[in-house]
Amino acid sequence: MKSSYSNIFSFNKKILKKTVKFLMQGNIASLPTETVYGLAGNAYSKKAVKKIYNLKKRPKKNPLIIHYYNINKLDKDVELNDNFFKLYKKFCPGPITFILKKTKSSKISALATANLKTVAIRFPSQKIIRAVLKRINFPLAMPSANKSSALSPVSAFDVFEEFKKKVSIIINGGYSRIGIESTVLDLTGKPKILRPGIITNNEIKKYLKVSLSKRKSKIKSPGMLKKHYSPGLPIIRNIKLKYNTKDAFIVFGKKFKNRSNFFNLSKKADLNEAAANLYRTMRKIKNMGYKKIYVSKIPNVGSGIAINDRLKRASK
Ligand code: TXA
Ligand code: MG
Repeated sequence: MKSSYSNIFSFNKKILKKTVKFLMQGNIASLPTETVYGLAGNAYSKKAVKKIYNLKKRPKKNPLIIHYYNINKLDKDVELNDNFFKLYKKFCPGPITFILKKTKSSKISALATANLKTVAIRFPSQKIIRAVLKRINFPLAMPSANKSSALSPVSAFDVFEEFKKKVSIIINGGYSRIGIESTVLDLTGKPKILRPGIITNNEIKKYLKVSLSKRKSKIKSPGMLKKHYSPGLPIIRNIKLKYNTKDAFIVFGKKFKNRSNFFNLSKKADLNEAAANLYRTMRKIKNMGYKKIYVSKIPNVGSGIAINDRLKRASK
């Protein structure tokens, strides 16, 4: 077993040192975060950023999130504003990404931001990614570590499944605690949520006025329009329970009986637990060889908004 996963490493001082050096040389490593696993490279290096796009087969017009340890020297790269400071104090480090204006002197590679005048920035809280960020003097461009449009990875083994040995260092940080990607919030004008997450609009509303971007409005995130987060099988949502189906059935809550083809995201009807189980469950269903996934109704409140957003995109 061990040899086939020879690029998956447990976290210790030695691998930390090796990873830091590897990133400084312009290479790409896969690192755990509290949301999902990422593919990390020096955001100031065009060469490194190009490797990320190539590995993911990601369209060049879909920009990457740039990850920082904290706000030291951040104003060199992006224009900070009051709304940003309010939310930074409250939620960072944590699962939230801010869109801000790029400064003229910004060192972030234009490729990483798809030539836009804005940058997506995030301060992850997971201890391994933070240990790495603390030891390098550049931020990390880091999209989720999956092929473009596929399911995001929530374990080192999921990353291995996506890229095999094409990524030489994958650090094992166990299952991602949150399990879905960060909330993306545009702060360049009137605050707007571009991608819902575990930090909900209701929580953000305590600090500033914010709206949820409507799909039909002009979307600022090119990558958010297309089919995404897909396990590669048809997903049919909001289905009333079919006890006779042979297909996989994703359910939520107490009332469901156990069946071998039923996958309960949270028996105790906890939406955060359901979010943490979402990608894991879809990946498992795909690997078990099912051809179709039905999903029962999931409450569209709190973290349920983000879950339904991902399921909706996966079902496109
Ligand atoms: O939780 C996360 O955010 C994970 C972990 C690894 O940090 N990262 C992640 O990255 O989800 P990615 O590349 O899979 O998703 C980034 C999203 C894309 O939908 C992209 O279009 C959007 O952020 N984005 C990036 N830069 C943007 C910008 N300047 N304006 C609007 N949207 C942007
Ligand atoms: Mg992604």
